[in-house]
Amino acid sequence: MNNFNNIRNQPIGVFDSGIGGLTVLAEIERLMPGENIIYFGDTARVPYGNKTSATVKKFSVENVLFLLEERVKMVVVACNTSSALALDYLNNIFRIPIIGVIESGVNKALAVTSGKIGIIGTKATIESRAYQRNIAKKNKKIKIFSKSCPLFVPLVEEGLVNGEITKKTIQMYLESFKKKKIDTIILGCTHYPLLKEEIAKYLQKVNIVDSAQEVASHAKDVLGHFKLISGKKAKGNNKFCISDEPKNFTNFAKLFLKRNIPEPKIVNV
Ligand code: DGL
Repeated sequence: MNNFNNIRNQPIGVFDSGIGGLTVLAEIERLMPGENIIYFGDTARVPYGNKTSATVKKFSVENVLFLLEERVKMVVVACNTSSALALDYLNNIFRIPIIGVIESGVNKALAVTSGKIGIIGTKATIESRAYQRNIAKKNKKIKIFSKSCPLFVPLVEEGLVNGEITKKTIQMYLESFKKKKIDTIILGCTHYPLLKEEIAKYLQKVNIVDSAQEVASHAKDVLGHFKLISGKKAKGNNKFCISDEPKNFTNFAKLFLKRNIPEPKIVNV
């Protein structure tokens, strides 16, 4: 019984290529305030979105190994690129529950769509066709449109979440979706929830699926299934680890989480 309680009170590990996964951390924190969370942002090797599948797999394995050293009870892959290219690989190697963002985003999109879904993400995510395959496996009748939006990540990282340049970039990438009259869009990159308002204004009356919200509720279901939900009543602690220079990370974290965070620890993976 003691052992079992120990496992329940171990932290949830969350990793991303950098800062984007903080949108997932925020949702996990909101849904499961008693959980301790360790966040790892691979800021030395970001972006993953333009790397090969072999490289993303290698980085993802190293990230999980690091989180295991921190004794996490589960891992949430809070990066679409890593989820698209490496999730199955990770689950073949490791024994603890490891979940990604794709399945949760797809389930939500299928629950709200009337038949035409648009998917946006990094080049690697879109080219992997992971979202497209997942949707087709569950419903062959859905019309799927996809678009990689490589300029969205740097826009968010520059804090340009609204304003003229952002509006024009959204129009450039999403004009074709508007013409195709999609009814649902999946934000298939962890940075994109910060552009949600502007995307909603541009597309109008389109369901916006933010995988960050969906994966948090999937994480809760998985922990519940394995009876691993923390027994603690008090608010959980967060620990932030990154692989490079903390200054930018701390500034971004403020933008993403709307609060100050403890000093991140720089680690080698
Ligand atoms: N976090 C990545 C994702 O969700 C975006 C940034 C990157 O390219 O590494 O796909």
